[in-house]
Amino acid sequence: MSNPSTEKPGGPATETGPFGLSVDAALAADAKERLAAVEALLLDRVRGEDPLLSDASKHLVEAGGKRFRPMLVLLASHFGDPSAPGVVPAAVVVELTHLGTLYHDDVMDEATVRRGQQSANSRWTNTVAILTGDYLFARASDLLADLGPDAVRIQARAFGRLVRGQIQETVGPRPGADQLEHYLQVVADKTGSLIAVSGHFGALLAGAPDQVVRTVTSACEKIGVAFQLSDDILDIASETEESGKTPGTDLREGIRTLPMHHVLAGIGSGADDARLRELLVRDLSDDALHAEALALLRAHPAMDRARADLRRWAEDARAELLTLPAIPARDALTHLCDYVVSRTG
Ligand code: IPE
Ligand code: IPE
Ligand code: MG
Ligand code: MG
Repeated sequence: MSNPSTEKPGGPATETGPFGLSVDAALAADAKERLAAVEALLLDRVRGEDPLLSDASKHLVEAGGKRFRPMLVLLASHFGDPSAPGVVPAAVVVELTHLGTLYHDDVMDEATVRRGQQSANSRWTNTVAILTGDYLFARASDLLADLGPDAVRIQARAFGRLVRGQIQETVGPRPGADQLEHYLQVVADKTGSLIAVSGHFGALLAGAPDQVVRTVTSACEKIGVAFQLSDDILDIASETEESGKTPGTDLREGIRTLPMHHVLAGIGSGADDARLRELLVRDLSDDALHAEALALLRAHPAMDRARADLRRWAEDARAELLTLPAIPARDALTHLCDYVVSRTG
């Protein structure tokens, strides 16, 4: 939001906002002000009586993060009354819930870096990280209770889906099941669910018409799937820790993501394919084997195939968004579809 606004001939003033969005200046100013309110409430809500829980919660709140889900809540609220009282608390609820899942996810994935900082499991212990994640869910639920039973149910169902996605990723597909279908179901459940809730909450709590609420929710679920596909591509493609995480974690943990499914399904048959396929079904906790697999995968045509899939999901989300009323927030949401495709962190 740092760029000065520019008046385009015949058009409204625009600004470069969060996520590199070129947005209407009034919308950018509103988002900036309300994101600041989200930050303040977020910090207030993780302050507790126990010093270790407070420290461990603040650790990743203060480390930053993109605040992608709160941003979706705020943008979606423009389809109704964006100043409705539930909107900012709802944005905090989704961020607290997301954050709780990250504490648990880093235990499951044995990740040592998160948001460019030591993960909580690495800075403290698995026990502290698990309990801090639980504490964040408790804090989210406390705030959610004020938003009414419908909001509680929406959140509870999405959270159930999220946990189901995480466990199904851990267990893997049943013998004989379609691997790619299983992967896409996991992605929709573990990530699409909460990103859909972000749009849902924003539109619902702002009092948008039912059909608009449904469309925003469905488009955000697609944005969520695209967001996870890009996360999975970045985990392979980034050569730095620009994402604030350690690249290659999925391979090391034996989590099979889209490019790996494409390799195993025989996309692009190069000379190195047999070796890569052999590595993908092995334990890659050995550093040399892991580095070899990562290098082969980065150079494989399966990466381009996965990027094309990502673009398709983002385009489907955009097409759905374009059926909504043409307001500046709709443009910002369609720009987020581009951001999800091109993001590097
Ligand atoms: C990370 O989410 C977990 C995924 C669902 C991919 P984000 O990429 O939104 O993480 P932060 O909030 O910016 O750290
Ligand atoms: C994260 O999945 C999904 C949830 C936290 C629910 P990943 O394990 O792929 O995310 P990162 O890459 O660690 O952020
Ligand atoms: Mg992870
Ligand atoms: Mg994970």
